[in-house]
Amino acid sequence: MDLDTPWRELVAARQALAYRMFGGLCIEGVPLVQIASSFGTPAYVYGAGTIRARLADLLGAFREQGLTPAVRYAVKANDHLAILSLLRAGGAGADVTSAGEMARALAAGIMPEAIVFSGVGKRRCEIEMALGHGIGQINAESAEELAVLSAIAVSMGKFAPVALRVNPDVTAGGHDKISTGRAGDKFGIAFDEAAALYRYASTLPGIAPVGFSTHIGSQIFSPSAFEAAYSRVVNLIDRLRGEGAVISRLDLGGGFGIPYDSGPAFPMPAYAAMVRRVAGDRCLDLIVEPGRWLVGPAGVLLTGVTLVKLGVGRKIVILDAGMNDLIRPALYGALHGIVPVGMVASSKPVTITEVVGPVCESSDRFAAACPLPEMAAGDLVAILDAGAYGAVMSSNYNGRLRAAEVLVDGRGMTLIRKRQELSELMRDDIVPLGERAPA
Ligand code: LLP
Repeated sequence: MDLDTPWRELVAARQALAYRMFGGLCIEGVPLVQIASSFGTPAYVYGAGTIRARLADLLGAFREQGLTPAVRYAVKANDHLAILSLLRAGGAGADVTSAGEMARALAAGIMPEAIVFSGVGKRRCEIEMALGHGIGQINAESAEELAVLSAIAVSMGKFAPVALRVNPDVTAGGHDKISTGRAGDKFGIAFDEAAALYRYASTLPGIAPVGFSTHIGSQIFSPSAFEAAYSRVVNLIDRLRGEGAVISRLDLGGGFGIPYDSGPAFPMPAYAAMVRRVAGDRCLDLIVEPGRWLVGPAGVLLTGVTLVKLGVGRKIVILDAGMNDLIRPALYGALHGIVPVGMVASSKPVTITEVVGPVCESSDRFAAACPLPEMAAGDLVAILDAGAYGAVMSSNYNGRLRAAEVLVDGRGMTLIRKRQELSELMRDDIVPLGERAPA
């Protein structure tokens, strides 16, 4: 990385962002300085055009291979209604993991048939909700869950369209905490038991088995990890079809990585070609469940410098965003790029700086040694690639208010979630009568 202006390289590699001579760092042409002065900081800012373009790129890579998979966007990555709505308009459905996500997907106008319900611990009321709405696919993760599904479906006079989630025992994923396809992970049905369970599912009343699903982890870059998993599942399908089983769907899961540094992008064309090769001419309806890949690079966390503190042997830049806003660095040791926003920033000398948040935890640190221009209180920085697993994982820890969220579309910017207010922080607390402070 060119040490003179390391942040320029990070920005140049991101389709949503550009430095402008006047205006500083812009997202889809809109200066972040302007967004900060309109809505304050910290604020999540998303570029609608980038999300649309990425969805189109994904579909385009598959189309090149003659494939038209159904995209079921993993709502957990960013569940904002505005994001869901624009993905719906681009043709995506949803992969949901709770009643809350299902309600959001439906509220965004996603058709029930275009929703997949995944998750290792679906509650009875959630299954009833899914069946009541006619959700397109429920991914079952165990024999025990199949029995519950069957009983509920029968009691409601419905058929549950079920895909069995297979755990293919493949190691993949950018971090131990986001790997899901190893035998020791809690997810899915052990590969060796999957065939027997499919046969069993076919005998259960109220269950309509439609195929298999798999999801081996998140932040994966190598198509070969996916290939190992898919090949195993496809062999399983061949074996069962050989016995006469009807299997129409293969849900490939999500997990496509995004570079948080200046590294290479996920090779989507090679991935699509691999899927083509592995699926062959099997006549399977394919599903993909990308989350991070669609929305991650489309968002930044725009945050202000509260204070620059002289620590032992280093400068510490203290931001107004903390681990309650973006927990990925604290939780996974994730390193998000941090770049200056102001227009003069690029001409200042580079200093290596520690960048932290204000939360009372040592893990509330965004970077141990980040090249930045000399920073001062009131300056702005953008934490990059925060569109996925950012706002959704935020909390009120340390009594901190949930950040504002802004969507840039065309030349316009819209506040899509107002910053939480202090009164809202305590709104749901109930103090027993005897403990109430005298009025
Ligand atoms: N499908 C299923 C069944 C999943 O469990 C997930 C993510 C996805 C799809 C979407 O995966 P993606 O394409 O976004 O990698 N909070 C972590 C990521 C957890 C992912 C959990 N499952 C992070 O910030 O890295």
